[in-house]
Amino acid sequence: MIRSVVRGFGAALPKRVMTNRDLEDLVETSDEWIVQRTGIRQRHIAGEGETTASLGAEAAQKALDNAGLTIADIDLIICATSTPDNTFPATAVNIQNRLGMHHGFAFDVQAVCSGFVYAMSTADLHIRGGMVKRVLVIGAETFSRILDWTDRTTCVLFGDGAGALVLEASEGEGTNADRGVLTSQLRSDGVHREKLYVDGGPSTTGTVGHLRMEGREVFKHAVGMITDVIEAAFDATGTTAGDIDWLVPHQANRRIIDGSAKKLGIPLEKVVVTVDLHGNTSAASIPLALSVAAGDGRIKKGDLVMLEAMGGGFTWGAVLVRW
Ligand code: ACO
Repeated sequence: MIRSVVRGFGAALPKRVMTNRDLEDLVETSDEWIVQRTGIRQRHIAGEGETTASLGAEAAQKALDNAGLTIADIDLIICATSTPDNTFPATAVNIQNRLGMHHGFAFDVQAVCSGFVYAMSTADLHIRGGMVKRVLVIGAETFSRILDWTDRTTCVLFGDGAGALVLEASEGEGTNADRGVLTSQLRSDGVHREKLYVDGGPSTTGTVGHLRMEGREVFKHAVGMITDVIEAAFDATGTTAGDIDWLVPHQANRRIIDGSAKKLGIPLEKVVVTVDLHGNTSAASIPLALSVAAGDGRIKKGDLVMLEAMGGGFTWGAVLVRW
């Protein structure tokens, strides 16, 4: 049976770091308020020349280097983003060109903060369907460019960055036995679209628009949706919370992360948290967190890793991977 196995990982962050103290100069807020409500201490903000595609390409190149591969080995690039460089062409095609890849194909997936789990699921289906052998799965965002920097209820929450994985087809032999994506569980419900959205777009206002959010409403739904979809992943694979080596959640808010882990009975020592350093980087947050935890040796080959996210739409989902 063909499985999609993680072969490499990489990440990229803009050079500029913006601390909570820096934000105190822009809006009426405080380091204390932000840390207490969200756990965020700093975020990276893209500067001149840094775009979603440039960050995505940098993360992808690092994932290739980590995998010991070159771009010639890749058949497909999928980029999850809600902040593309242009309305079209797709950011994935822009990244494809930046990496010097002129074969295969590339496309974007748009599911806001759940984008990376949607992209992992899509990549896994392409691999298991036999259409491709290796996929670069990228989450890349520059949310700083769609924030209203006068709105303290949103501008303190987000940051920019990118992360990438190389997924490879494996027949599950030898050291690869049992490794790979075990299940993907995806959900969406557009009835919630106005709780978290961007108030512009090519077909409505002809502008890029700004992110708008009813924070309390998002918070109210988050833990329940996340735990439901993780339970579905357990049911699909016959696993339980006790089997999980690492929970790698979308990094939106420390209280949502801790609340979800607690409800599932996953100890906090098994939860990867980077929201303090990166803020909410939307589709980039999971591959960024994976790169940190695999890079520092916490996540090891054979570990059972649960990825989960919830975001605008609402969209939500979980992917269970034997690393
Ligand atoms: N600094 C200081 N005060 C602030 C700030 C700020 N940055 N933002 C809001 N406040 C004030 C409000 O104006 C309000 O003041 P008032 O009582 O005088 O009216 C007070 O703080 C409380 O505001 P609430 O919105 O009720 O605060 P809450 O405790 O709900 O925290 C937060 C807000 C952090 C946004 C929370 O609702 C949350 O985490 N929601 C989830 C949102 C999220 O994570 N979205 C990410 C995208 S979706 C995803 O990725 C899952």
